[in-house]
Amino acid sequence: MPEVDESEKEKQFYTDIPAKSKPFFLKGCNSLDWGMKNRLSRIFNPRSGKTVMLAIDHGYFQGPTTGLERVDVTILPLLQYADTLMLTRGILRTIVPPTYDKGIVLRASGGPSILNELSNEQIAIDIDEAIRLNVSAMAVQVFIGGQFETQSVHNMTRLVDWGNRYGIPVLGVTAVGKEMARDAKYMRLASRIIAELGVTYVKTYYVPEDFDTVVASCPVPIVIAGGKKMPELDALAMAYNAIQDGASGVDMGRNIFQSESPVAMIKAIRKVVHDGVKPKEAYDFFLTEKSKARKG
Ligand code: 5RP
Repeated sequence: MPEVDESEKEKQFYTDIPAKSKPFFLKGCNSLDWGMKNRLSRIFNPRSGKTVMLAIDHGYFQGPTTGLERVDVTILPLLQYADTLMLTRGILRTIVPPTYDKGIVLRASGGPSILNELSNEQIAIDIDEAIRLNVSAMAVQVFIGGQFETQSVHNMTRLVDWGNRYGIPVLGVTAVGKEMARDAKYMRLASRIIAELGVTYVKTYYVPEDFDTVVASCPVPIVIAGGKKMPELDALAMAYNAIQDGASGVDMGRNIFQSESPVAMIKAIRKVVHDGVKPKEAYDFFLTEKSKARKG
């Protein structure tokens, strides 16, 4: 039994100080439960409201992708610079040290390889497994307009139901098929459908024209995928433009781990995303960091 409160100190109820009620820092997330918000705060930096997610889950459908042949050698040195890691449970368990204390976004859908119809995915984990691995979110591909559109939407809504039950956010990834247009009209359609059906945040590709309308018409935060490897200055400019258009961060893979200097690149991307540094300045920073890394 605890002892009775016998302190002689006068009780203080601060009746003149109103209780604080601060809105949560992420768009559309204010009415989520505490656990969800806590997990989202391990993905998005509450200071900037943005995230640099490092995506290394490519192997789930394309095997040992260039730059990811040895995740232990090439990716572990980058972990300290990422806000969050997006990956499969296989790589998480076998390679990532359990002392890693930032957000984990777990790949939760899968099935077909690059040799087959990619939209034919199913849910690829159980919610118990996501809880056991203490993840901050689960990621699911959604193929709006694809051959298995409805199946992929149902994968997503089931994960959303599970996630809501246990306080785990779901990231809906707009998966663009080879023959689909990558324009603002498509991205608005896909992002909005995914958000309406309940995901906590959305990942899309950046489109140079009218990306601000994609962000504006999506009621939850949007992060952009990096896409195919491009010159570093172009990737930094894309990230900058996306942030200026209202994106809440990047979920970038190949443009970081396939860079000539992955550490320099992720550090430069952080400057753009968290500090709003302009592309040219971030590129100069990249070059300086790259030469330091060479000498070191
Ligand atoms: C797979 C994914 C990947 O995580 C993501 O697209 C990869 O990032 P990047 O395009 O920057 O290499 O969602 O579909």
